[in-house]
Amino acid sequence: MKKLLSYTIGLGAIAILWSSCYSSGDNTGIEYAPDMYVSKGYEPFTQLGPANLNPNGTNMRLPVNGTIARGQMEFLYNYPNTADGYESSASNANPLTASVKNIGEGERLFNIYCWNCHGKKGGNDGPVIAGGKFPPPPWANYQSEYIQTLPVGKMFHTITFGKGLMGSHSSVLTPTERWQVIFYIQKLSWGDKFKTAENSEAATTVDTVMTHTATKN
Ligand code: HEC
Repeated sequence: MKKLLSYTIGLGAIAILWSSCYSSGDNTGIEYAPDMYVSKGYEPFTQLGPANLNPNGTNMRLPVNGTIARGQMEFLYNYPNTADGYESSASNANPLTASVKNIGEGERLFNIYCWNCHGKKGGNDGPVIAGGKFPPPPWANYQSEYIQTLPVGKMFHTITFGKGLMGSHSSVLTPTERWQVIFYIQKLSWGDKFKTAENSEAATTVDTVMTHTATKN
């Protein structure tokens, strides 16, 4: 009886030691039937072993250089993140119409991503800047001549890549959303002079604003 007890304790101890090898640290433990959890087929995001036919052994292949995924055409942007790229971006016009819908969506997005620095009305008095630890932009507010005459293409470039202390917002705004926000910047900037495209007289105003911005720089 005493012998049986000591065997049991001995075997138990071995079993505990054995199992602890598999459950510590980064080890995920034993998978009893990996085929049941991980597909044998080529899945883009999971794989059991290297896929030797592909570069780097990954199941998923990189898209061919210069191709654009379906539905991602708007992400095509040929201006590099350089001083020259910034200058030449000036010739880009806003491809959207200044509709109530587009301006409204721009306002919604501005009040999520931009107001914390630029302030609800574009006064550069958002909490981040008002806190005093983050230096304000080199111009006073969106109503300054600098922003009123800044080509929209440059605004788009800055939102895409960032400029100075402002970071890139390309991961949170699609190109369409960036253009919508730009309408709202212009609305803050020009006040009543910036009208929606629904109002025909106003559509001319928008054109004037655009020409104005284009000729000044
Ligand atoms: C962290 C604070 C911060 C946030 C958030 C921020 N900005 Fe800025 N923004 C700045 C600063 C600082 C500058 C001045 C950059 C410079 O000229 O050095 C600037 C500059 C700009 C300019 C002028 C760009 C140019 O080409 O001179 C525009 C337009 C602008 N921001 C729009 C936006 C929009 C739209 C958003 C939201 C999508 C946004 N900003 C979010 C801090 C911020």
